[in-house]
Amino acid sequence: MDLKELYRDVILDHNRRPRNFGPLVPSDAHAEGHNPLCGDRLTVWLRMSGDRIEDIRFEGKGCAISTASASMMTEAVKGKDKAAVMALYGTVHALLTRQDAVPDASLGKLAALSGVREFPARVKCASLCWHTLGAALERSVDPVSTE
Ligand code: FES
Repeated sequence: MDLKELYRDVILDHNRRPRNFGPLVPSDAHAEGHNPLCGDRLTVWLRMSGDRIEDIRFEGKGCAISTASASMMTEAVKGKDKAAVMALYGTVHALLTRQDAVPDASLGKLAALSGVREFPARVKCASLCWHTLGAALERSVDPVSTE
């Protein structure tokens, strides 16, 4: 299967049956992301175990690419610590924006997102969930005690 087919199949599958969809209760942090170009929004909830994402869910109304990207992201980051998540985001961002970025095997299904770079206007759709996750992770930092 070439990347174009993978792109189409994976986006369709995750848009039709988004994984980890719906609120997470209880959660340690959440953030809402907004794509100003189209008005779409999504919310990401996190349950943390120290520095590690123990559970993650999302909800929102958006286009097929934003929904599929969020669905795949939740599967990819569950169980990872913050450093690993930020590293993965760097890899995904390069894949979305750089023609010369080659998806490596460790990316799994996320490799399909390289198809988005054929449509530069959709890069924001695919990265919305990652920005939102970054904001939720910042909020999940243990509050500094002033005692
Ligand atoms: Fe709104 Fe894609 S068109 S997030």
